[in-house]
Amino acid sequence: CGIIASLMAGDQTVAVALEGLRRMEYRGYDSAGVACIPNLERTLEVEKKKGKVINLSSAVAGRPSFKDASVAVAHTRWATHGPPTDRNSHPHCSNDNKIAIVHNGIIENYQQLKEELQSVGYDFVSDTDSEILAVLIRHQQLQDPELPLEAAVSLALAECNGAWAVCVIDEANPDILVGARKGSPLILGRSRDGLMLASDATAVAGIADEVIYLEEDDVVTCTREPISGEYSYSIGSMADHHFSDYSSDSCESISSGTSSESKPSLESVTSEGMLGNRPIAARARSMKKLFRRSTSTPRVERSPVQLNMKVETIQKNGYKHFMLKEIMEQPKVLRECLRSRINEQTGFLQLPSLDNVMDRILAARRIIICACGTSWHSGLVGEYLIEGLGRIPVEVEYASEFRYRSPLLFKDDVVIVTSQSGETADTLEAIRIANKAGALTLGIVNVVGSSIARETSAVVYLQVGPEIGVASTKAFTGQVLVLTMLAVILGHRNGNITDAEALDYARQVQEIPDKVAEILTPENLASLKRLSASLRYAKNFLYLGRGFNFPVALESALKLKEVSYVHAEGYPAAEMKHGPISLIDQQMPVCVIAPKRHHEGNYEKVRSNIQEVVARSGNVIAITDEDGRADLATLAEHVMVVPSTAEWLSPLVSCIPLQLLSYWIADYRGCEIDSPRNLAKSVTVE
Ligand code: G6P
Repeated sequence: CGIIASLMAGDQTVAVALEGLRRMEYRGYDSAGVACIPNLERTLEVEKKKGKVINLSSAVAGRPSFKDASVAVAHTRWATHGPPTDRNSHPHCSNDNKIAIVHNGIIENYQQLKEELQSVGYDFVSDTDSEILAVLIRHQQLQDPELPLEAAVSLALAECNGAWAVCVIDEANPDILVGARKGSPLILGRSRDGLMLASDATAVAGIADEVIYLEEDDVVTCTREPISGEYSYSIGSMADHHFSDYSSDSCESISSGTSSESKPSLESVTSEGMLGNRPIAARARSMKKLFRRSTSTPRVERSPVQLNMKVETIQKNGYKHFMLKEIMEQPKVLRECLRSRINEQTGFLQLPSLDNVMDRILAARRIIICACGTSWHSGLVGEYLIEGLGRIPVEVEYASEFRYRSPLLFKDDVVIVTSQSGETADTLEAIRIANKAGALTLGIVNVVGSSIARETSAVVYLQVGPEIGVASTKAFTGQVLVLTMLAVILGHRNGNITDAEALDYARQVQEIPDKVAEILTPENLASLKRLSASLRYAKNFLYLGRGFNFPVALESALKLKEVSYVHAEGYPAAEMKHGPISLIDQQMPVCVIAPKRHHEGNYEKVRSNIQEVVARSGNVIAITDEDGRADLATLAEHVMVVPSTAEWLSPLVSCIPLQLLSYWIADYRGCEIDSPRNLAKSVTVE
């Protein structure tokens, strides 16, 4: 899910929120919604629509209350709790429509809180966990009408377990916007024209001049001075609160920060029918305990950073889809990924951000790579690379499995996580487990300032620019390139690779962007497009690869599934005969990655596998190099040629035509390529 909120000049408020939503659609597109406080009427307005942001934009277009608003919150949703209906869409409101919230994350104890609030008369209209926040914040205000909005939000959050990035607006405070983060990202954007809160910087690129990456447990209050119109913000940290149990406190100390006269007594609230039975009395007690806490939220300083993200990087720039743009820009962004990573004096590869931890990595008992989805596939390539060149044992784990199986971790383990977004919940949790166990944690991450980048001991950024298409392409090659550099550096530093080899390897790595560019010629693109047209009706695909290219087979199958909704499986080539071979018939395209030069042993074996497929009338599409072209032309239905590379570099070229094949098959099938059904790019729930 993606959230954005804005406190800006009247005509910009909702416009900026909707533009931010559009840019964050890759985070989920089951539904979208916006709430604002119009400058004229000053009564909360909400609009929600199932499906994409465009539906929402059309629904509010031309409506005066959305054209001139004081403050707004907006949300694009990837459904977790409850089906993607208007009812379950954010923003969610309090019963009396005074408070509106948008929330990204999960409130784990929402069922219990919901029951308690229901038992004292509150209604819930959605099936979501998030609605509880709106009701609870309002409940705090009803208990203490003097309570500042930030305090009401902090009190409500103090009752919740789970993760949140949340933005809150209040009809009674049209010049205030409150946000909070714990476990889900939230940034504060600042420009001359106002303040914004958003799930990521993409949403405000070109709008905000600088951003603050909020920290865990931060609560931020954005304010506009009603007279001068000046904007200011103040950040507090809920983490620094310490308070003793209510039962051990005296009432005097509880009321020390908030006037007890101004607070309605429990009885008076009861007479309004809001409270009145035992569970809520217990809650009220615990809330009393929290009143004191709310009055003293310690203020913290967070440094703003310039937001240099260019708007062009988040636009399609003439391409039909972001996915195609991101595939095509790989030569350029891989050069960017290499920038400042070749030592100008020595010519060796370098990853300066790891300098301080390099000795610990070299002394590692083993390296564990944890990730999800495509990033897990790059981790698998990393295993081949680091074991092959770096000679350090490597295990690769799905983060979601790792975190729940009581992994055995040692202080001399190194846990590397690969993640495009830097926000994937399971991957983030894997780091926390590793940090707790005292292992060294490294992030290979694309999004600067993301949670994973902040929670790992050291981070290498991909430097490939924002990836918007849900199906990852350039982030995959960026991750593989970083892991390749790391493997060479480790091998060199531990003596497995000589100086001469290290220089030669650095040269070969530098050639990769040009080799990728060689694949993306108009002739090759035309030929791949024709091939895709001929394969568009196939119902199942098999992808085979061996060694370094086995993970590429997995990744290519995933790519096709994600964007074209066609079933595909990736397999180690030699494993095919232990199962999938029974599926092979004339209808089954089998994409086999079989580069020849420098891969002699493997090539011969994969060639035999191709023969096995051909013998069963399978339709083979071979990905090979110039040396394999003639040989495989006699066997395969179609041969795609990629530049030859050393075997350890081959995933970086072999994956490219297969990315394009997935893209065009999906395009011919009329799929929503940049936002495939049911998927989201940044999965912040487990
Ligand atoms: C989601 C996306 C995948 C991605 C995976 C891991 O499932 O749809 O494309 O590979 O998350 O994301 P990460 O940001 O951690 O690389």
